[in-house]
Amino acid sequence: MSDNKIPLAAVIGHPVAHSKSPNVHGYWLRKYGLKGHYIPMDIEPDKLADLLPRLADLGFVGANVTIPHKEKVMEIADLITDRATLIGAANTLIFRKDGRIHADNTDGYGFIENIRQAVPDWNPRTGPAVVFGAGGASRAVLATLLDVGVPQILLTNRTRIRAEKLKEDFGNRIQVVEWVQAGNVLEDADLVVNTTSLGMTGKPEMRVPLDGLKPGAVVNDLVYSPLKTRLLATAEESGCRVVDGLGMLLHQAVPGFERWFGKRPVVDDAVRAAVLR
Ligand code: ATR
Repeated sequence: MSDNKIPLAAVIGHPVAHSKSPNVHGYWLRKYGLKGHYIPMDIEPDKLADLLPRLADLGFVGANVTIPHKEKVMEIADLITDRATLIGAANTLIFRKDGRIHADNTDGYGFIENIRQAVPDWNPRTGPAVVFGAGGASRAVLATLLDVGVPQILLTNRTRIRAEKLKEDFGNRIQVVEWVQAGNVLEDADLVVNTTSLGMTGKPEMRVPLDGLKPGAVVNDLVYSPLKTRLLATAEESGCRVVDGLGMLLHQAVPGFERWFGKRPVVDDAVRAAVLR
């Protein structure tokens, strides 16, 4: 892109109106006084392969990708990072000057940076983690936890076979635990992560018994609406160190913003407040 063009970026989804990404990127563009626009773009699944390669011609330098396109864009992209391959989905696209589409997944990065920022002295090597859920978000979390050296991950999911599949993909540091037994393994955990939609506004509440949570353990919910889920409220009462899910949303946006608009943005209370407004 020549210097006199204003860079454009989008979040691509279907639907997409719920996405908070335009608030995040819009806030940073204003904060840093940068030229650029970031818009929500609703693309129907059967039009994705046709429209995506044309965005660069319209002045787009990249895009975030949300449901239901995160897997499909992997088939359209020309270059795929190792971490996107491992997770099997992409959330960040870069439209390169040579016309090629580069696909990355920054969900795992956002997840771990959120925990590191909230609990700077957390040491991943000290003990096992418990992860609830075996969907796309879980894949990003598992890949990242293994990468930073968590010795063992107890993985529990309502549909056991999905957890077994993840164990197959990620190896023996993953141990599958029956969903009905989930409450019984919490006392072993130094880190507990909920990647399911349980506890989200409009979804069922998480019913896993939480009285086994160990004081001092780090408890992270990927759900950020509400900000304080029942899991986090109970964890806080139990003396755990709680990390809400909004930070992951903010941190996963950092690499894309930097690539598209040329400035590495800071995740702080001000951007949190801007997104919550
Ligand atoms: P994502 O990509 O956001 O992780 P997903 O692939 O739909 O989304 O996964 C949603 C997760 O929430 C899954 O682990 C799902 O459990 P199943 O694999 O059994 O479907 C979990 N989940 C959703 N609703 C649930 C419920 N009512 N009880 C237990 N787990 C639930």
